[in-house]
Amino acid sequence: MAKISFYSKEQHREKVLRLLQERLKDHQIVDWAQSDFNAEEFTYAICWHPPTKFFRNASGLKAIFSLAAGVDHLINHPELPEGVPLVRLTDAGMGDKIAEYVHYGVLRTHRCFDQYYRLQKAHQWQPLPDRHAADFRVGLLGFGVIGRSVGHRLQSAGYNVSAFRRSKADGDQSIPVLSGNITDFLQNLDVLVAVLPLTPQTTNMINADLLGKLPQGAHFINVGRGDQVVEKDLIEALNSGQLSTALLDVCATEPLPPESPLWSHEQITITPHVSGPTQITQSVDQIAESILKIEAGADATDLPGLVDNKRGY
Ligand code: GLV
Repeated sequence: MAKISFYSKEQHREKVLRLLQERLKDHQIVDWAQSDFNAEEFTYAICWHPPTKFFRNASGLKAIFSLAAGVDHLINHPELPEGVPLVRLTDAGMGDKIAEYVHYGVLRTHRCFDQYYRLQKAHQWQPLPDRHAADFRVGLLGFGVIGRSVGHRLQSAGYNVSAFRRSKADGDQSIPVLSGNITDFLQNLDVLVAVLPLTPQTTNMINADLLGKLPQGAHFINVGRGDQVVEKDLIEALNSGQLSTALLDVCATEPLPPESPLWSHEQITITPHVSGPTQITQSVDQIAESILKIEAGADATDLPGLVDNKRGY
């Protein structure tokens, strides 16, 4: 029997714990927040934003599982044990949810809903120019598993989709994927969608320089991480007209503090990191299956979702 430590403060934690225990009947899952335990006894850890002490003395871990697609909460953890394979969720139902959210954001800009809202407030009946979806250019900054889901959904809705990623490897047959010179990618977009993991390379990447390369009046959607955006530069780009709107599901500080200027900016829409909530059943299945594989002799470094710690995702 393996012992598995668990940490999450999310609302659904009880359900996740219960399902994990059901799937991993022969193993014991221990809720870190509820127990006073001997960390050395644990073989696996499953967590989302674990506190500093979570890994203290956890010298027997064979693998650490993120209860999310992002692993910045682990890579930046001050006491992350060295050399233990980190495994993240790969899609686990999140891709579809995020695609749905981004589709809404794109449709909203493409069909001018924000402008019609303002016109309604002013009691103005004023049709705006119509644009065909095929002429509406959406660029995905980041093209991993989730970026692909987003891309395919937008493409099947008829949009002109392209993507940019650091390495050209793993292209996609139907969506043009650019790498190298980001200016070539940005200069032709109506909407930029950031679907990036947080790494040292992507931190503050969306700044005045990058936003300035978009055509004037473009839109921005962020479903990655807030730390990728220099918020002051974003606000300036909106104020100057360089950007028309921003739809932000993530912010540098979460929850977003009440005094943040982002809240009341007319061209910004904020949602509280809900574009891709953890899909509980799929996530539990993915993690439980991986643990059972390791218990049956598989190497943790062969698991889907294995993180390259140096790359940061
Ligand atoms: C959520 O933000 C995730 O990383 O899955």
